[in-house]
Amino acid sequence: MPASALMNVMVAAARKAGRSLARDYGEVAQLQVSIKGPANFVSKADLKAEEIIFQELSKARPGYSFLMEEGGTVAGDDKTHRWIVDPLDGTTNFLHSIPLFCISIGLEREGQLVAGVIYNPISDELYTAEKGKGAFLNDHRLRVAARTALSDCVIATGIPHRGRDNHPRFLREAELILKEVAGMRRTGAAALDLAWTAAGRFDGYWEYGIKPWDIAAGIVILREAGGFVSDTNGGNDMLERGTIVAGNDKIRKLLLAQIEAARSGKP
Ligand code: IPD
Ligand code: CA
Repeated sequence: MPASALMNVMVAAARKAGRSLARDYGEVAQLQVSIKGPANFVSKADLKAEEIIFQELSKARPGYSFLMEEGGTVAGDDKTHRWIVDPLDGTTNFLHSIPLFCISIGLEREGQLVAGVIYNPISDELYTAEKGKGAFLNDHRLRVAARTALSDCVIATGIPHRGRDNHPRFLREAELILKEVAGMRRTGAAALDLAWTAAGRFDGYWEYGIKPWDIAAGIVILREAGGFVSDTNGGNDMLERGTIVAGNDKIRKLLLAQIEAARSGKP
């Protein structure tokens, strides 16, 4: 399928910011050994990438609003469209020279997520989707995994780190889910967790404490790959609540049941 004008705009912005991130990533390894470390450098790389995306998208679609990880909200004249942008998802990985990070650009039209692009400039993997048009990894159509038993599944999650609340809740849920699954993974980039679930690499994914820019693009990509997504109460308020459960519908429901069991204290 030829890419739409909208996809061309989003992909061009992601690739341009990706080139900038990839250049800076090359420098990060050198800075690991310096006493100050690469932290300041990384936050500059992040801001640079966001500025590139902001400029590219503003030029191509003047007036659209923005919600960005670094710059926050920028209200445009067009109130029906909003870009939701994470210029560097997987910041801790980037900082530690772990090549698992990405750019995530989602588009909302009248409050509905309608398009998403996730790009890892190191692996050169580009995930794209537009509502009703399917999801793609580079040129290949994506489909979520068909497994229906947790015992066969590799499940991704986000582990709350220092500064995040509710470690006991995570440990309760992880304990129940670990007993059921073939494997658990933590990539450190929520957008990639969703993209990899869309690609069938992961069978499911759940996390708390995430922001709209972590998941907006990934939700479109996952749905267009035939996947299902909800918040941890089973509702549709992922962006508002900052929680997510994803997979094919069977696996999403099985994960939700484990989350519910952890909540109620029932084994
Ligand atoms: C983080 C990553 C991580 C998730 C965190 C996010 P950042 O985003 O997506 O996987 O567990 O909740 O904050 O800080 O790397 O952009
Ligand atoms: Ca993020």
